[in-house]
Amino acid sequence: MSAPALGTPRLHLRTIGSTNDRARDLAAAGAPHGALVTASAQSAGRGRQGRVWTTQVGAAVTMSVVVRDPPPLLPLIAAVAVAETIGDGARIKWPNDVLVDGRKVSGILAEGRPHEGWAVLGIGVNVAVDVALLPPEVQERAGSLGRPRSEVEPFLSSLLAALSRWLAAPRAELLAAWRERDALLGQTIAWTDGTGTAAGVDDAGELLVTLASGETVSLNAGEVHLGRLPS
Ligand code: BTN
Repeated sequence: MSAPALGTPRLHLRTIGSTNDRARDLAAAGAPHGALVTASAQSAGRGRQGRVWTTQVGAAVTMSVVVRDPPPLLPLIAAVAVAETIGDGARIKWPNDVLVDGRKVSGILAEGRPHEGWAVLGIGVNVAVDVALLPPEVQERAGSLGRPRSEVEPFLSSLLAALSRWLAAPRAELLAAWRERDALLGQTIAWTDGTGTAAGVDDAGELLVTLASGETVSLNAGEVHLGRLPS
């Protein structure tokens, strides 16, 4: 059986507050699996952990898709789909930032109402963004694929196809694909409560970290905020 296609029906707007907000409203009102909201620009794009997501008009994939009966590893699934669509050189920084040459080219915001059986997967990909024109605080870590604007729409089509494949893939395959692209493996990382060496993800998608004591702990993406190492 082939994976159900994503992207229909599609609502495209030139400008919107946040595509995630609109897709959430549609999902709550009964929109089907695969319903898609895209925009050329967002005035209130949202990121994980309360952050703002900034981009440039027409230079990025800015999409939110309704996922019915979402699988538990949805954020990791999305990251693998984005990385695969980008191609060689794309790495994933746990749980779901996609990096190229160490710079973040894509952010993913999965939100949902599990008790109602739906989630919204919001994805931004800097396909043709000029990083020099982003706000200074974003420029420091942001990257771009540096492709022409004409590639934004084809990228979206390929991404939706990859997403529908990975949504249907066995968990072991998904985890293997995620682990192949792990940007943090072996790196020293810091979070709110400590520092340690990243040691991959477990089967629940939690980040494994080996502490100086030799003990290994797991971090949950919903609770942990990865920071920079104290200098
Ligand atoms: C992050 O890295 O913090 C997540 C960024 C997610 C951005 C996308 S852009 C499309 C969708 N609409 C939003 O408001 N946010 C997501």
